[in-house]
Order: sequence, then structure tokens, then C-alpha cells
Amino acid sequence: MRRIQVPGDKSVTQRALIFASLASGESRLRGLLPGEDPQATAGALRALGVDIPPFGEDGGEVRIQGVGLRGLQAPSDVLDLENSGTGARLMLGVLAGQAMTVTVTGDASLRSRPMRRVTAPLSKMGAIFREMGEPDRLPLELTGGSLVSLDYDSPVASAQVKSALLLAGLVGGVSVVLSEPHRSRDHTERMLGMCGVGVDSHQEGDVWRIELRDPPERIAPLDLEVPGDFSSATFLLALAILGGVEGGLEIDRVGMNPTRRGLLQVLGRMGANVGADPFEEEDGKEPLSSLRGLPSKLVGTNVGADEVPGMIDEFPVLAILAARAEGVTRITGAGELRLKESDRIQVLAENLRAVGVRAEELSDGLEIEGGDHPLTGRVSSHHDHRIAMAFGVLGALPGNHIEIDGADVADVSFPGFEGLLEDLTAART
Ligand code: S3P
Repeated sequence: MRRIQVPGDKSVTQRALIFASLASGESRLRGLLPGEDPQATAGALRALGVDIPPFGEDGGEVRIQGVGLRGLQAPSDVLDLENSGTGARLMLGVLAGQAMTVTVTGDASLRSRPMRRVTAPLSKMGAIFREMGEPDRLPLELTGGSLVSLDYDSPVASAQVKSALLLAGLVGGVSVVLSEPHRSRDHTERMLGMCGVGVDSHQEGDVWRIELRDPPERIAPLDLEVPGDFSSATFLLALAILGGVEGGLEIDRVGMNPTRRGLLQVLGRMGANVGADPFEEEDGKEPLSSLRGLPSKLVGTNVGADEVPGMIDEFPVLAILAARAEGVTRITGAGELRLKESDRIQVLAENLRAVGVRAEELSDGLEIEGGDHPLTGRVSSHHDHRIAMAFGVLGALPGNHIEIDGADVADVSFPGFEGLLEDLTAART
């Protein structure tokens, strides 16, 4: 069985860079993801006066001297978060609490994604936004400063929205209480805890409630080892499940946060031969485990709204597994997928059909009919890293031939993905 590791978790890396910048004192961070998204966030924080040393693929320790919760300095230029939705939305929250005017933008893909989901509640807190392009889109000019507390029912289960609001409360020194219709990933709440900030979260009736009641004047620095990215790991796990790695695959040190690992339950229903080492769920820490995948015969399944937030980034990988499963896989309640780095519902249906898979677009999901005939054709990544990786895996399976336009966008979250895929499949006899 081949053993590998995947790069650091993108969500945790983004938050670690932001929290370390806002801390009072020196943070020590190991295993940061050097992908393009965290590099863009690091670039924005440097432009705001934080001294963030370069970080690369060795995962070595990076020390960041925090400037304190309200110590960022006005940048001399526009802040460009490139392709990073998390970087842009979380930084809008941070900047809402700072007394300065800043313009935030991104690349063409990020400029096509909605921003009012964060700017509307941040405006209620007192931040002032000027939309400089299309309505609901970047670029935005933001004037932050004196905020008031917020009690907000978010219509979407989004960790980016939740985190932006919690960061605004933290930096602005005001309480933030919010609810979301389903529980979204909780990396921000865990990191707040690591920095010594009390945040309460619990189920209340039908909704999930998060409360930051007494934001402190300063936060403690981090001493953090970033886990391997569960979402990145799932692409290679899928390769192993679909018989693309001789003898199967073991992936070490993967983050197993319960709000992120929803795909495992779905894989179980599909009959996938996957396993994880037993692991501790220590309060507040990100749990880690090794993940194993062996060649498996899969059957189709149904995935509905309740399961979507816990596997929000795993639909591209689910789509290619469904394409090789016996029977139909039906995904519903997943309208949020239309608002990711690409419209993933449309792009997945179009790309699957382009290589010979029967796939139907639903308004809030997809229907995919699996099979085992060879798949051939040309697809586009649509500048979406997870689309590129999903079709990279599908094309690397024996008998399939898939050309991908824009495959190098995988570097956004998984630097070295293409090389690793080649290496894992080259060993096949
Ligand atoms: C993320 C939250 C999710 C996810 C994205 C990363 C985060 O987005 O899709 O890849 O780090 O907070 P939403 O908050 O839009 O669901």
C-alpha cells in the first residue's frame, strides 16, 4: 500500500495567517498550505503591515509577530485576494472593524461571486461598503471603524459568512450572535478557542447558533501544526477507491474535523472500502487520522440538504465516484454549489457529459448515472481547482483518456497535485 501525505488544510491555513496577524505576540505555525489562496491572503496581510515570512512546500515553522486586534495599517494599494473566496470574505470581516478605508478585489472568478452575504450583515454592524463594479460583487470599497453588536439569522450555512462576522465582532470589540440553518465547518470557533477567546455554539430548535459575547481586547498567539487537508485527500482517496493506485493508498495526518468529513458517511453507503485509524476528538483541537482507500465496487446513492454543509467541497469528487458507480446518484439541496469557484452544478454536468457520462443538471443538484465503459473527451477546469483535480483523477484511471484545459489551477489548494497523480499512477503494472 502506498503511503503519502497531502498539503496543509486550506481553511485552517487561511485562518491561522489571519489570527496570527491579529494576535498579541509571536505565533508559530507549521505545515501551512503554500497554495495560491493562502499566498493571496498572506499578501493582503503583508500589505496591511504584518511581517509574514515567505512559506513554501517544506512546511517548516513560520513565525509571525502579531500586530494586535486593531494594529493593521492602511495599505497603499488595492487589496487583491486573487481566487480566494475565504480570504476575501474573512478579510472583509477583519477590515470592517478597522478604522480605515480599503478597496478589496479579486480575479475574474472571485469577482463573479456574491459578496452581499457578508456585506449586508457587516453593514448592519456599521461598516460602509461602496460597490465599485457590479451589484453584490467585488471590487468593494470598505470603510470600517466603530461597530455595533449584531444578532443575525444567516439564510445560508456558510463558514465564510459566519467567520467574517465573528472576526468583525472580535476586531470591532462588539458581541456577535448568529444562527445558520445547518452547522457549517467550525475551524474559526476552534481557533478562537486556541487564542483564548470564549465562543459558544449549540443547536437551538432547527438552527445552529454561535455566540461571541465578550470579545477581549487582545488575543493570544498560536502554536499550531496545520493538519493535512481532508478535501485534498479525498481526490487521492477516490483514485485509490476507483482502482487507480496499485495496492491501495494510505494518507497520513489528515484533518478529520467532524464538520468536514461528511463524505466518509456517503462513501460508506456507496460501498467504498475506506478506513481511518482510531483518533481522539480532543475538545477544541483539530482531530487527525490516517485515511486508507482500497479498490471498491460502488453503488449510487442519494445526498440531500442535511448532508451538504459537511461535504460542501466534496461534490466534484463525489461526481466522479458516482460516474463509476452502479446505478444513479442523486444530489439535491446543494444550490450553494452554483456559487463556488465555478457553477459546479453546471460545470460538473457539462464535463461529465463531455466524457461520455449521463448527467442531468437539477436546479439544486445533479443526477449522475454511473457505468464502467471507458471515458474519453476534453473538459475545462473553468478555473476551478476542484473541477481540475476531479477530472484529473477520472482521466488517470485505466482505460480513460481525458484532456483538461486549465489543469494547472489545482495549485490553488494542492501544489504538486499533477506530479503526485502521475507518480501514483506510473507505478501501476
Ligand atoms: C470555506 C468555507 C466553504 C468552502 C470553502 C472554504 C472556509 O465556503 O466551500 O472552500 O474556509 O470557510 P462557504 O462558506 O461559502 O460554504
